Amino acid sequence: MILFKKTGDLHKWLDGQRKKRKKIGFVPTMGALHKGHISLIESSSKSNQVTVCSIFVNPTQFNDPKDYEKYPVTIEKDIELLENAGCDVLFMPSVTEMYPEGLGLPMHYDLGYLETILEGKFRPGHFQGVCVVVHKLLEKVLPDNLYLGQKDYQQCMVITKLVDLIGLKNEITINICPTLREPDGLAMSSRNIRLKEDERKKAVAIFQSLRFIRDNLKKGDLSVLKHEANSLLTKNGFKTDYIEIAGANDLSLVNEWDGKIKLVAVAAAFLNEVRLIDNMLLN
Ligand code: PAJ
Repeated sequence: MILFKKTGDLHKWLDGQRKKRKKIGFVPTMGALHKGHISLIESSSKSNQVTVCSIFVNPTQFNDPKDYEKYPVTIEKDIELLENAGCDVLFMPSVTEMYPEGLGLPMHYDLGYLETILEGKFRPGHFQGVCVVVHKLLEKVLPDNLYLGQKDYQQCMVITKLVDLIGLKNEITINICPTLREPDGLAMSSRNIRLKEDERKKAVAIFQSLRFIRDNLKKGDLSVLKHEANSLLTKNGFKTDYIEIAGANDLSLVNEWDGKIKLVAVAAAFLNEVRLIDNMLLN
């Protein structure tokens, strides 16, 4: 695996690969890698001659400075995991390499409704930060294929919209990969490292609350079902930001189900200081 820290060096090397007609797959991450991330690397390796992973803890997408400071960093282990997974290139830029003009956001991405609900509502500015960094990364890597995890359901929709807004829709194919889970069902996440032993045991309630919704879903009013799912979270010590049922295609919130449209249940909740998110397709 080749490690690049400077955009110019990465560009030059990738240009050489493009001239040899090699397909480039790209997996953007913030590091503290786990098997979920590695499954994206493996998907990319299967379909592309060159797989690029980026590790960059992006300051502009953290609405909570404490969350940014405490974001886990495990670089040596990350490099080992990437090498074992057959990743070809690791791009690990510094903050000044990514933001030479400073951390002020250069433009506003018109994400419309997507930015006013769920993660957009509870983490103001978060998706603008995601868009700014992913826009910069896509311009640097210019991949044929981009790999994203369903774990961040709304982020997948935001990045799909971004790729359209920046005119790369015809150049880049977006591949959305399934959520990898621990044996008890907890979605793998870099933030899980921050859970204390007792918190880790309770954390599975977020998965269980989504499964409860899936198993008890019926046509008609959904408010009681959402309420009961939320009780499962609070009983286990979670403070809920939201637990909602939404249209799987556009994330429009659904309170009354016609028994037909495809639904996804989405949740975000804190266990003490650690905020976890998860989602589940329902039908
Ligand atoms: P990060 O949280 O590191 O996630 C990187 C990618 O891994 C995302 O596409 C995410 O959805 C995927 N992922 C995380 N957990 C997963 C799991 N359990 N199973 C499958 N895939 C999983 O998402 C970000 O970083 C950042 O916002 C980023 C897009 C890199 C922009 O900074």
